[in-house]
Amino acid sequence: MACLGLAGCAAFASPGAVAAPAVHPAQWPRPAAALPADPQLEARIEALLARMTPAEKVGQLVQGDIDSLTAADLRQVPLGSVLNGANSAPRHDRLASPREWLELADRFYAAAAAAAPLPLLWATDAIHGHNDIRGATIFPHNIGLGAARDPALLRRIGAATALEVRATGLDWTFAPTVAVVRDVRWGRSYESYGENPQLVAECAAALVEGLQGRAGTPEFLDAAHVLATAKHFLGDGGTGGRDEGDNTQSEAALRRDAAAYVAAIGAGVQAVMASFSSWHGVKMHGNRALLTGVLKERMGFDGLVIGDWDGHAQLPGCSAVSCPAAIDAGIDVVMAPAGWRDFYANTLAQARSGAIPAARLDEAVRRVLRVKLRAHLPEEGPPSSRPFAGHFELLGSSAHRALARRAVRESLVLLKNEHALLPLAPRARVLVAGQGADNVTQQCGGFTLDWQGTRPGRDIRPAESIYAGIRAAVTAAGGSVQLSPSGEFGARPDVAIVVFGESPYAEGAGDLTSLAYDGEARDRALLERLHAQGIAVVAVLISGRPLWIEGELAAADAFVAAWLPGAEGGGVADVLFRAPDGSRRHDFRGRLPVSWPRAPSAGASPQPLFPYGYGLRYASR
Ligand code: BGC
Repeated sequence: MACLGLAGCAAFASPGAVAAPAVHPAQWPRPAAALPADPQLEARIEALLARMTPAEKVGQLVQGDIDSLTAADLRQVPLGSVLNGANSAPRHDRLASPREWLELADRFYAAAAAAAPLPLLWATDAIHGHNDIRGATIFPHNIGLGAARDPALLRRIGAATALEVRATGLDWTFAPTVAVVRDVRWGRSYESYGENPQLVAECAAALVEGLQGRAGTPEFLDAAHVLATAKHFLGDGGTGGRDEGDNTQSEAALRRDAAAYVAAIGAGVQAVMASFSSWHGVKMHGNRALLTGVLKERMGFDGLVIGDWDGHAQLPGCSAVSCPAAIDAGIDVVMAPAGWRDFYANTLAQARSGAIPAARLDEAVRRVLRVKLRAHLPEEGPPSSRPFAGHFELLGSSAHRALARRAVRESLVLLKNEHALLPLAPRARVLVAGQGADNVTQQCGGFTLDWQGTRPGRDIRPAESIYAGIRAAVTAAGGSVQLSPSGEFGARPDVAIVVFGESPYAEGAGDLTSLAYDGEARDRALLERLHAQGIAVVAVLISGRPLWIEGELAAADAFVAAWLPGAEGGGVADVLFRAPDGSRRHDFRGRLPVSWPRAPSAGASPQPLFPYGYGLRYASR
């Protein structure tokens, strides 16, 4: 359709090989601006922009990965930002010390200062704590925090994570994921706060506030806070359980699922990441109507839009090293992890030839500058000179670990409690069984020290396994504990706690066609065997999503969904057991953030086994 200027268009179609349905920006919400207009800031941006060469401008739009560049590279090419992908680290060593991260941040900062007009930003995926760094506090993944429904807790988790990121000299996190998961076969379900757009919106706004500080107050993006990113715009959770899939929802349904962007913008989020997914066959990285027409123009988002990891390469006519179409659609910073050098060179040529219009180039640069100035980057100085840098005692501090443990307690959802078995008396003979019982790797899940979450538990420190937490609670009360993953025992136990579930995964590697999981037959047999011996059985499921567990549910007297609780497994024992004096210290308070499908093939079912919001208390009948 003929629609030249975006602003005046009531509706416009997207370019590309396939035409997405028309979008009607005027029908989308317009959040109240988080920050008042700031003419001084805008004047500063214009003054900087006027002095920048085309090469400097293009550099601000390109982001490379730290595993594919050196400080010497940054002296030559004026990049605006770097990221560490979920497998990248100083010296390519994921066990590099926090000090090495900070030292590398300093080296990169100094190198970039020689070439670029503004300091470099370093982004990381601190998505459940500062999870790429050895020694950091590892919080539950988002699905558990959605179950907890506690915005104040999320604010505190955001603030704690920001401090740990600051300790290592980094500036920016690619969190929160604000996907609304509509089919739990999706491998990224655990990154979602749930299936309800309002729940996701509340959680997202709270985490953004915690990470960045409250907009409009002096704490906003001060030295204790970091830049946040709402991702992945838009519709990543609505692709029928397929990662990077096609979302075929109507515009109205997509708009409903965008509530978290409205909330995050209202909280002042400074970055939005485009989704790998498509809407009606059009890749989001090329969807100008949604990125520019809706997000920027209608919703008034004035921060920067970043592309996802080579996501631009999937657009028709693009490659990893060239993609004017993504910039035209509204991507301001292109994540070109390994191909950054050629991407930069090609983009500079395209800017010079006019293939990328000067006005669009300037608009993208303005957004990057706005974010950098709001983050006080020019005034802050080298990473190690900033107030919290080098305070490595913040990583895994007792206060942060206590917060993570509280988050675990709040996230647990009780699905069954026959004969009021829970809370258990701790002065008892307890058998702890199952592959997940003493398995920090499994309870942390993906995005923990590496992308797929496969590091051995000994690398994830500090940490407490679920078993270790149970042992502490029971022995403190004078009871006894036996650990046996296969469920063997000597003296007959009073109760068996069986911990089992999914092995770690991330992104598309976690996509399932069936909700039956890898260890299903083994775990059900273990539960049935204990149950058949007349032993009271408590099942604890570790998983990034609901799974098909009808057999396990039937064999257990009590059943707890623990999600991916992270490193503070002691939070599970806190709720399973009474205090040593017999009193009730806690209760279950988690409620399902997604409905629990009844059939293994139904990632989203109209007649769930347990509805959205379900969750028992000790005393429920
Ligand atoms: C993911 C993003 C992540 C990025 C950088 C991508 O594979 O989709 O969520 O922020 O990698 O690690």
